[in-house]
Amino acid sequence: MSAQHVLEFEGVVKRYTDADEVVRAVDGVTLAVGAGEVCALYGPSGSGKTTLLLLAAALLTPDQGVVRFAGADLARLQASQLVAYQRRDVGFVYQSAHLMRGVPAVENAAMKLLADGVSLREARARSCEWLERVGLAQRLEYPPERLSGGERQRVAIARALVNEPRLILADEPTGNLDTRRGIDILRMLAGLARERAAAVLLVTHDPQAVAVADRVHGLRDGRLVRGHEAAQIRPSAVSTARTHETG
Ligand SMILES: Nc1ncnc2c1ncn2[C@@H]1O[C@H](COP(=O)(O)OP(=O)(O)O)[C@@H](O)[C@H]1O
Ligand SMILES: [Mg+2]
Repeated sequence: MSAQHVLEFEGVVKRYTDADEVVRAVDGVTLAVGAGEVCALYGPSGSGKTTLLLLAAALLTPDQGVVRFAGADLARLQASQLVAYQRRDVGFVYQSAHLMRGVPAVENAAMKLLADGVSLREARARSCEWLERVGLAQRLEYPPERLSGGERQRVAIARALVNEPRLILADEPTGNLDTRRGIDILRMLAGLARERAAAVLLVTHDPQAVAVADRVHGLRDGRLVRGHEAAQIRPSAVSTARTHETG
């Protein structure tokens, strides 16, 4: 079953213990995302979106259930395999760009390559290509403080894609952008992912995200909600999902 699935969650539970209260942040999630597929999870604040992405990135381990990448249980990877997974297979786009001040866009976008031992010259060349693809050919040497919010988020996308990951995890990537810039960024992310046959798990409370996704699920209290229940979270958003077109 795993052959064509890049990412799979099977019965995944993650709890946090806060003082003496236990929060089931992710509460029995089963979900698979295939190559070239954009899957959006739509849920309110506190519904477990970020926790799910951290589990997918193997930055957290589940209390129950299994998270797999290309069929392999992430909890069974050795430390060196985990590092390789995070550097080579995963691209993470955060809500805000988190770029390094004073560092040119081309070097900000090249960070993962540099951390992975790629030479500065090659890392810059590959980073330039991606910055050109996200429309920043004229901004290569600009530090983040000279870029607009939308441009900074484009640098963050180039940084996430520069190692050509098979899995892209996006945590409310348009959270800080206005509507038009937000949808442009989402379209770009979805387009680049499909072109490279990467799998995308996009979590958001932005209804626009639904428009670029192949499949949308609601998330509430750490559980996936479908159909009627999902419609109660966000009627227009969930009903416009492209689930039915792409099957
Ligand atoms: N490190 C943590 N310690 C304790 N509780 C946490 C922690 N991180 C998240 N939570 C709780 O887990 C739930 C899900 O959080 P999160 O995954 O951040 O949701 P979202 O990204 O949808 O806002 C929330 O109730 C949140 O308060
Ligand atoms: Mg979050």
